[in-house]
Amino acid sequence: MENIYLPKLAEIKEIIQETADTKTIRLTIDGKSIDFLPGQFGEFSLIGEGESTFGFSSSPLRKEYFEFSFRTSGRATTGINGLNEGDKIAFRGPYGNYFDTSKMHGKDIVFVGGGIGMAPVKSIMEYCLDERDKYGKITILYGARTVGDLLYKSIFDEWKNHKDTEFVVTVDPGGETPDWKGKVGFVPTILEQLPLKGENSIAVVCGPPIMIKFALKTLEEKMGFGKENIITTLENRMKCGLGKCGRCNVGSVYVCKDGPVFTAKELESLPNDF
Ligand SMILES: Cc1cc2nc3c(=O)[nH]c(=O)nc-3n(C[C@H](O)[C@H](O)[C@H](O)COP(=O)(O)OP(=O)(O)OC[C@H]3O[C@@H](n4cnc5c(N)ncnc54)[C@H](O)[C@@H]3O)c2cc1C
Ligand code: FES
Repeated sequence: MENIYLPKLAEIKEIIQETADTKTIRLTIDGKSIDFLPGQFGEFSLIGEGESTFGFSSSPLRKEYFEFSFRTSGRATTGINGLNEGDKIAFRGPYGNYFDTSKMHGKDIVFVGGGIGMAPVKSIMEYCLDERDKYGKITILYGARTVGDLLYKSIFDEWKNHKDTEFVVTVDPGGETPDWKGKVGFVPTILEQLPLKGENSIAVVCGPPIMIKFALKTLEEKMGFGKENIITTLENRMKCGLGKCGRCNVGSVYVCKDGPVFTAKELESLPNDF
């Protein structure tokens, strides 16, 4: 019988030092990417350091590699961010549900990412940009605490240069530098200033819980987005990732199996303990 917990060995092809504490790592298994969809996650482990959960950050249409961004926060991420190109790492996945892009075809989309939450946003956003003609206007709002905390700076221009695509980047008040040309303000505040309307639109929001809370409120109450058209991801702590251990439950919902992607309407029916 197949052991569902058995990881595969992924090889590190390229490492991008994004910020002082975050690296983006491009991986292959058997020399290529694997099949996954934006919003899904995987479990990475290092012997002696443990296993942790991370969301894919690349578009699944880019077949040469799959990519994750790791922010150093504890033992597993310290170990992973200490690896070098050519090293191997144990990986299980992909797990969980995904952003259903078929429901986004023909619609305007606003992508809202905060901090390391920009990683899953990047995956779905680049997936949509890779098939740009299938969607209406695309607006990307990305926020970090400080200029030094911004991930993916080397590809900002790539995002901006797509047709009918607006890219807005902001840092928290006090996080700007003298030469900063982007916005200054918390993500929900900047979101409110954008010329968006809920009609025929989808919002994808990932980031720290406090950002999600206020961004959802803004989208619903001030911009007229329906709860079913606002999609977010939950980052409850996980262990098995497979709906077996009960570590990630919110009420009767397994975030690892039924999520991590939920609409605001679905979140409304969950007990408020996440
Ligand atoms: C679905 C999902 C996707 C994720 N995607 C990413 C990603 O793309 N990149 C990334 O860097 N991290 C991501 N995380 C968070 C990552 O799994 C944790 O930060 C993980 O604990 C890091 O492992 P560690 O052993 O280094 O740190 P640990 O020793 O486990 O923890 C270090 C610190 O982080 C806190 N922490 C642990 N888990 C969480 C959590 N789920 N939410 C908030 N705080 C937590 C701990 O309380 C502690 O303070 C994701 C988590 C989930 C559930
Ligand atoms: S992480 Fe084990 S049930 Fe979800």
